[in-house]
Amino acid sequence: MSTPRPFLAANWKLNPTTLVEAVDLARAVAQTAGDRVGQVELALFPPFPWLLSVAGTLQAKGIGLGAQDCYWEPGGAYTGEVSAAMLSSLCEWVIVGHSERRQHFCETDETVNRKAAAALSAGLKVIICVGERAEQFDAGETETVVESQLRAALRGLDRDLIPGRVVVAYEPVWAIGTGRNADPGHAGRTMELAHTVVTSESGASVRMLYGGSVKGDNVASYVGLAACDGCLVGGASLDSEEFSRMIEAVVEVGA
Ligand code: PGA
Repeated sequence: MSTPRPFLAANWKLNPTTLVEAVDLARAVAQTAGDRVGQVELALFPPFPWLLSVAGTLQAKGIGLGAQDCYWEPGGAYTGEVSAAMLSSLCEWVIVGHSERRQHFCETDETVNRKAAAALSAGLKVIICVGERAEQFDAGETETVVESQLRAALRGLDRDLIPGRVVVAYEPVWAIGTGRNADPGHAGRTMELAHTVVTSESGASVRMLYGGSVKGDNVASYVGLAACDGCLVGGASLDSEEFSRMIEAVVEVGA
């Protein structure tokens, strides 16, 4: 199920707070990544206002660029929104359904699906995030939650576009930003289930990422799993040295 080149996606969230810091961080990542992009696919997901300013640096190094969210309507009276269509002239990727959007911004399975569909028709590649909350994990509901989120997110998407343009990130909510990364056994079983669900829903197979407190010293335990093609990294991706350690650890797994 794994692809030859593992994928590390860096979700900067609402960071860094200034343009200067954002440009510096992108430069530092591009510099430390060096020639590793031949062995590891990298993509950075800064906040909207920093996209344009970091694009050149990343493109020169073969590092991908994406946004953290999008709106499904291409334009119109939707104050504050940024459409998938607008993003398509700035970057190649977009994340939809991140648990922080579900939790703080009323994202639902239905809006995640609309955003994924809009992203694909705008020509973007999309990372669809799914994952159970702590109480669902404790109640043994992980598989049910992940299956229903995934089926809802994929509903009606163009089957021909799914294999090359959709990536799924399994991110247990209780592992995000907590330092409590999921046991690789749990993550692996859930990603295997997610692969099965994607195939049954769309007839396609997609790349699968794990996310949730991934760092240099644990990234290999996920990327080494048969069902896992890479990681979606939050907090640790804001430190270029730590991110570089992750890149090296991932290269090591593939070596
Ligand atoms: P974290 O975030 O690595 O800080 O846990 C992951 C994510 O939210 O994608």
